Amino acid sequence: MEKQIQINSLSQMRALAKHVISYKKPGFLVCLEGDLGAGKTTFTQFLGEFLGVEDRINSPTFTILKIYHNDRSLNLYHIDAYRLSNDFTDYDIEEYIEGDGVCVVEWYTNILDVIPEERLSLEIEWTGETSRRIKMEGSGYYAQIVETIGD
Ligand SMILES: Nc1ncnc2c1ncn2[C@@H]1O[C@H](COP(=O)(O)OP(=O)(O)OP(=O)(O)O)[C@@H](O)[C@H]1O
Ligand SMILES: [Mg+2]
Repeated sequence: MEKQIQINSLSQMRALAKHVISYKKPGFLVCLEGDLGAGKTTFTQFLGEFLGVEDRINSPTFTILKIYHNDRSLNLYHIDAYRLSNDFTDYDIEEYIEGDGVCVVEWYTNILDVIPEERLSLEIEWTGETSRRIKMEGSGYYAQIVETIGD
């Protein structure tokens, strides 16, 4: 299932995150692609907000993986694969990708070899100061999330 959606403000981005997180479950996987400043981390912060994560979520570029333990709901695993590639060997992130929490991967196409087919993917494109075009794709369990967008 695939849809192109138009976002015109931060609050619409937040509403999209609210919709997405309403489908959360252990092992929930959200994959994000888009240029620098597209809004990947911003979207992740909104997901964290709706999960009840209290710590400030920032870009994990230099740490690759950040774990936000969350007693109120599922843990959030935030991965930034900007500096990774398919042949990385030194980081055991696969257990988080199909783990017990919600996993968000920025720059996921860099590590496509370890990314399951069944996932929600968002390709965010900058179209203006606060506007974005997003290509959303969901397979398996995630298809319903795309299907019901805007309902
Ligand atoms: N509708 C919107 N959706 C997302 N971000 C928006 C929107 N409107 C404005 N912004 C702003 O755009 C910026 C997006 O930056 P962000 O760090 O989220 O991008 P990123 O894709 O994670 O970049 P990087 O690849 O450098 O990590 C933020 O300053 C955010 O406030
Ligand atoms: Mg980022």
